[in-house]
Amino acid sequence: MSDQKLPALGSVPDENGFFGPYGGRFVPEPLEAPLAELTAAFRQFKDDDSFVAELDREYRTYSGRPTPLYHAERLSEHLGATILLKREDLNHLGAHKLNNCLGQALLAKRMGKKKLIAETGAGQHGVATAAVAARLGLECDIYMGEEDMRRQSPNVTRIELMGARVVPATSGDKTLSNAVDEAIGAWVSESETAFYLLGSVVGPHPYPELVRHFQSIIGREAREQVLAEYGRLPDMITACAGGGSNAIGLFHAFLGDDAVKIVGVEAAGSGVETNRHAATLTTGKPAVIHGMNTYCIEEGAVTAGGNHCIAAGLDYPGIGPEHSYLKDLGRVQYEAVVDKEVMLAFETLCRLEGIIPALESSHALAYLERLKGSFASEQLVIVNLSGRGDKDMDELIRHRNQALGKEAGPPTQLFC
Ligand SMILES: Cc1ncc(COP(=O)(O)O)c(C=O)c1O
Repeated sequence: MSDQKLPALGSVPDENGFFGPYGGRFVPEPLEAPLAELTAAFRQFKDDDSFVAELDREYRTYSGRPTPLYHAERLSEHLGATILLKREDLNHLGAHKLNNCLGQALLAKRMGKKKLIAETGAGQHGVATAAVAARLGLECDIYMGEEDMRRQSPNVTRIELMGARVVPATSGDKTLSNAVDEAIGAWVSESETAFYLLGSVVGPHPYPELVRHFQSIIGREAREQVLAEYGRLPDMITACAGGGSNAIGLFHAFLGDDAVKIVGVEAAGSGVETNRHAATLTTGKPAVIHGMNTYCIEEGAVTAGGNHCIAAGLDYPGIGPEHSYLKDLGRVQYEAVVDKEVMLAFETLCRLEGIIPALESSHALAYLERLKGSFASEQLVIVNLSGRGDKDMDELIRHRNQALGKEAGPPTQLFC
């Protein structure tokens, strides 16, 4: 926790991208100029009428927005509160990632760039970037950790089908963190013609602000929808947090509403000490990582873990700097759930609602399971269903086979 007095909500980031002590731009000299060029373009276009109209059209006609705010009646009965799912899984390509990719790709086009470079963990951001590159006729290189390529092989194929190149990241533990390093390295040598399309609210200024800007459509829609349908704000909103983009996307429109409790849910993996490297805010400390100052898990803990949380998209040792600020400010509460809780919540949603959620999104659902029995029935809770689970089938089958192997006779729970 920072001792520095924190700036007020609504005043962050400052012009240098600081959220109090967090954020900023800690990069080698060759990245300064491309980041300054990006910052200037973002400031120029973000509120430009024709840019806003073009993005709005893409959201509606390409992505399928607005996404519904769905009353999950059977899950509500099960948990004892009124549960509303913000259905980001119904976006084209099945996740919230497209919101940001469309915004940044349109910006790249306005800047005259010819190629998109991106990193990806679960593959969702890579798929969304490849799609917008195809949509706009841009070249595209996607960096992906070798371990994630194995876990998310259908997404590797999807990316390639849409004409992009997948570049394996082979350093470190071969997951998202290494893919980020290698993609940034490539951008340094190609920044004249290439645009680095970052997938979450992380990295050096202006990315945390820029990605928040494009993802905050989630919360703006949800706020309007809940007011229209229920005539009041929710009592609580929650989302999973890896880098933190779907969470900030939902939270941002509600930060000023003190009565709305806000909870971000991290991945604690199997829960043992060496495998908590995605539970950044609940177990980490502030440090500089990937060009920003933010809470993160020490390098040693990451490599020593060797064992990952069940959701590739949450396997990131840092977190967006705005989340670090919101944690210190006490405005958002951060919790961590373990894989076993996640699998139970995943299965519950499948069975009660006929919706197969992404394993990442299932972290937020798992936190609600913990609260079961403590809700008042009239409580309104919005959960960001950040994506659908189709991409996770290989991982799910592996877990199911493990669970089946453990039990004699028909299992009562398929996955645990
Ligand atoms: C479906 C889904 N949800 C959540 C995440 C985590 O990213 P973020 O924390 O930036 O929303 C990912 C990352 O790939 C994802 O695919």
